[in-house]
Amino acid sequence: MLLMISLAGCGKEDIVTNVGKLDFDQPLKLPPLIEPTIESDGTKNFTLTMQSGETELLPGKIADTWGINGAYLGPTIRVSRGDKVSFNVVNSLNEPSTLHWHGMRLPAKMDGGPHQMVDAGETWTPHWTIDQPSATTWYHPHLHGKTAQHVYKGLAGMFIIDDEDSKKLPSEYGVDDIPLIIQDKLFTNEGQLTEDEEGVFGTLGDEILVNGTYDPYLEVKTSQVRFRLLNGSNARAYNFGFSDGRAFKLVGNDAGLLEEPVTLERFMLSPGERAEIVVEFEPGEETVLHSFSGNTGLDNGEFDLVKIVAASELEESAPVTGQLSSVPPIEAPKDARVRQFKLTMENKINDKLMDMYRIDEVVPAGATEIWEINNFGWSHNFHIHNAAFRVLDINDKPPSEYERGRKDTVFIPNGSKVRIVVEFGKHADPNFPFMYHCHLLRHEDDGMMGQFLLVEPGTESEVPTTLPNNGTSGEHQGHH
Ligand code: C2O
Ligand code: CU
Ligand code: CU
Repeated sequence: MLLMISLAGCGKEDIVTNVGKLDFDQPLKLPPLIEPTIESDGTKNFTLTMQSGETELLPGKIADTWGINGAYLGPTIRVSRGDKVSFNVVNSLNEPSTLHWHGMRLPAKMDGGPHQMVDAGETWTPHWTIDQPSATTWYHPHLHGKTAQHVYKGLAGMFIIDDEDSKKLPSEYGVDDIPLIIQDKLFTNEGQLTEDEEGVFGTLGDEILVNGTYDPYLEVKTSQVRFRLLNGSNARAYNFGFSDGRAFKLVGNDAGLLEEPVTLERFMLSPGERAEIVVEFEPGEETVLHSFSGNTGLDNGEFDLVKIVAASELEESAPVTGQLSSVPPIEAPKDARVRQFKLTMENKINDKLMDMYRIDEVVPAGATEIWEINNFGWSHNFHIHNAAFRVLDINDKPPSEYERGRKDTVFIPNGSKVRIVVEFGKHADPNFPFMYHCHLLRHEDDGMMGQFLLVEPGTESEVPTTLPNNGTSGEHQGHH
């Protein structure tokens, strides 16, 4: 049904919408900040338990959901650049899952991808040092074939990295620094989550949850508020803007702050992408964060997301101007290696489906390369693990103003050629791969994913292109 509408591109009456249906009477839920325990060497240790539970997603109706340290979604992790972190990822579900740190620079073994399965009842204990610029990252399951289902049921959370640059922006969590995890859902009449098994893109819902809240409002008390938007949806893309058309400042893309704020009225996020914006408020005013419909097949909807109400007296905070990030933009060296990727209608990359045993690319650790992605079918996006990139051009034209910063996921329109300059992480490991893939979760589960090794420069030709034992090299993954 939803597919037919998007392909036919019919008139406005056919657009999926919740506009006019909401009362905005539920206070927006805020994922709690999780407190670490501090180990003797200063490492911040977090325990994250994946569990099942029940949640009142729609008013008066109980849904079976999954969450982390709770029944739906997970806590916000917040650390600073330079911190040593460790995790106890406890799987209390009745089936295996994984937890991947989307946007994180770290050793492949700690990445939480399909090779780091955590069996039911087991605990996985990854650890690394946070070494990347401030960013709004996130965590979610990444098991091969079932990522869509596990995320849809509620396994996801935000992972904020601070540094000296980011602390100059509004930073008081829940006060003037607000996470917004946007997810579309389909519900049964009883209020249970349900999926569209047919859709070419996966489930496109007709209701919206923000931080797991239906019908939300948020009261703000400062004149400048930073919002961290995460598109945590399986397939839907959002064209964000405000109901009153107000302008706001984009200050960060997926992988970090911009050099300078960019004034915008609209921007798009496809699944997995994040943005940080700063919005200015006058005392007593109200506006609604809205998603406008588009024609990508992923954004065939018009949605009110959350009403924002400014208190009658606001604490004045300084407007955001001037330099934000002190990190230079990612530039390609003259002799940068160029790799090409072809995306197709069959959800293949370079004519192949994901194979857990096959290495598709071998990249020297720390390299900066140009990846050229050509899309021959449907809308897709492209995410690379353990990397940050800058979009060079889309069909030989500069990218939109809202996607010129550091990113780890980019929308790839149907029929387009997108070139990105990718800065890879420095952690080499010839035995454990990282992933690149479409972040439309049904496509990812269908196999629209490839594996790359990061290896010591100069050893590229020495590493095998098949992985023994499913890439786990016989090593126990995180048993306790
Ligand atoms: Cu958000 Cu490969 O993941
Ligand atoms: Cu990722
Ligand atoms: Cu796709």
